[in-house]
Amino acid sequence: MLQIKNLHASVEDKEILKGINLEVKAGEVHAIMGPNGAGKSTLSSVITGNEAFEVTEGEIILEGEELNELGPEERAHKGVFLSFQYPVEIPGVSVTNFMKTAINESRKAQGLEEMPANEMLKKIKEKAELLEIDRKFLSRSLNEGFSGGEKKRNEIFQMAMLEPKLAILDETDSGLDIDALRIVANGVNKLKSKDNAVVLITHYQRLLDYIVPDYVHVLYDGKIVMTGGKELALELEEKGYDWIKASLEK
Ligand SMILES: Nc1ncnc2c1ncn2[C@@H]1O[C@H](COP(=O)(O)OP(=O)(O)OP(=O)(O)O)[C@@H](O)[C@H]1O
Ligand SMILES: [Mg+2]
Repeated sequence: MLQIKNLHASVEDKEILKGINLEVKAGEVHAIMGPNGAGKSTLSSVITGNEAFEVTEGEIILEGEELNELGPEERAHKGVFLSFQYPVEIPGVSVTNFMKTAINESRKAQGLEEMPANEMLKKIKEKAELLEIDRKFLSRSLNEGFSGGEKKRNEIFQMAMLEPKLAILDETDSGLDIDALRIVANGVNKLKSKDNAVVLITHYQRLLDYIVPDYVHVLYDGKIVMTGGKELALELEEKGYDWIKASLEK
């Protein structure tokens, strides 16, 4: 599904990613952990094509196709989804209307007709039920006055509607309470399939009790310095990042 080879990326001439290698196969969940400022959000921004970052070396390949030269919208249309650590508010645009536009944009890019209104409604209803989202929520303005948990719910709803091949969830938000953790976890677990993959960026070992990752990677100073199974998250929690630092200095 996703292959990242020797990826280097900079912002304002400062190198942030210093040679990332990562392979994510269909059906897998990968967790990325690491201290503040390690480059986790940068990695997700670079995968999704955020133009604030310059890729100076390496490749990002989705299903055999190199993404490096594609813009963020083209990548989204190829099935890459990113949840934002800090989502934007769009006053006057409801959750439902935003979703309709997003879906139809994506269909247009694939040369498809707009989704018929009844089909759209059915899909919205079905996904809202799956994620236990109530009707009132769907008519609210996008992210306006949303609580942290509501923002998460909305993101997961977007993911459910768009059915991405690769979802990157940046959960570094310190405001995630236990409910929001559960929303993210339930959503991901319900939407997971053998044909899609999830990359989950988190500081919380606890989240990984609900979403069991196939692999845990530690990103430290722009590199993946350790990879393991779910037990690595527990070990990290117990020993802290000084342990990583010490093992790198050996
Ligand atoms: N637009 C930018 N301009 C300047 N520096 C940036 C920019 N974006 C990121 N950086 C720097 O890149 C480094 C990595 O940031 P990044 O947001 O990727 O870290 P992170 O691992 O996601 O951290 P956190 O756990 O706090 O979310 C930091 O030193 C940050 O200040
Ligand atoms: Mg971050």
